[in-house]
Amino acid sequence: MRFCTLFLLAAALLTATAIDAGSIPSDYSLVWADEFDTDGFIDTTSWNYDTWGNKINNWQTKTPELQYYAPKRLKNVNCTNGILYITAIKEDLSDQPNWGGQSYSSGRITTNTKRDFTYGFFEIRAKLSRGRGTHPAIWMEPRGGEIDIMEQVGQTPNTIFSNLHTPYTLRTVGSKGNDVQTVVSNAVTEFHNNQVLWSEEGIQFAVDDRVCHRVDKPVSSSMDNWPFVVPHYFILNVAVGGAWAGPPDSNTFTEPVVMAVDYVRVYQKSVQPTTTRKKDCKPRASRVRRHL
Ligand SMILES: *[C@@H]1O[C@H](CO)[C@@H](O)[C@H](O)[C@H]1NC(C)=O
Repeated sequence: MRFCTLFLLAAALLTATAIDAGSIPSDYSLVWADEFDTDGFIDTTSWNYDTWGNKINNWQTKTPELQYYAPKRLKNVNCTNGILYITAIKEDLSDQPNWGGQSYSSGRITTNTKRDFTYGFFEIRAKLSRGRGTHPAIWMEPRGGEIDIMEQVGQTPNTIFSNLHTPYTLRTVGSKGNDVQTVVSNAVTEFHNNQVLWSEEGIQFAVDDRVCHRVDKPVSSSMDNWPFVVPHYFILNVAVGGAWAGPPDSNTFTEPVVMAVDYVRVYQKSVQPTTTRKKDCKPRASRVRRHL
């Protein structure tokens, strides 16, 4: 029901605007994708293992998350038969660098400094993990502007959260952001397409081509209320614990805790709008790789 209401609301809003579909706009073409077709480790020309917070701050939450994000380790992050698997495991990796006392291992990978994008249609096909205390996420940053394409917590496995955070929302409503919930009844047993259409007019979220959430750029916009004018990179991770997911229970790790990602695809307009770019960035044309 919630989904229908939001969908109708979004549809009504959209009639007045240029963005009108959850699926790939016809004038966009593929500029980068990872289909995870090579078995073994992730492709480090595109991805990094993001491990900086393991010891320093347990991932910046007031209630610390419980996972140690492993560096290059197939058990936590691997590609098998065209699928990327990110797996959380109940184990103590005290022999690994920067271990911060955690009793769970997991994976967190980013495209920071390797693949970042301003505007486009982003599609990530994924099947989510299950189990109380688990928290898979597919998102984009830099901090300040955060596009949460998909977040889910184990206690409500079939509810997907999409969200936008800005310095303004962090100051005024905190972590609530522009949160919208969408029910996807088989999110942990089937793959679904998590989609974002990010343009100069706004950011719209969809699941399997159905629009569920849209935020327009404010009329009077600034880096404070609309930082979505600079390149953002992807982050994929499976967290354990933390304030939102809460602790795992005795059933959580009786089955594997895995987020499976079939692909990450990025489409852009052939003529990109002018954007603010960091000085040290190479021109876009030399940084994108065409896959199809
Ligand atoms: C890759 O991850 C999957 C899902 O957790 C797991 O079943 C498989 O054993 C892993 N592969 C390797 C080589 O560790």
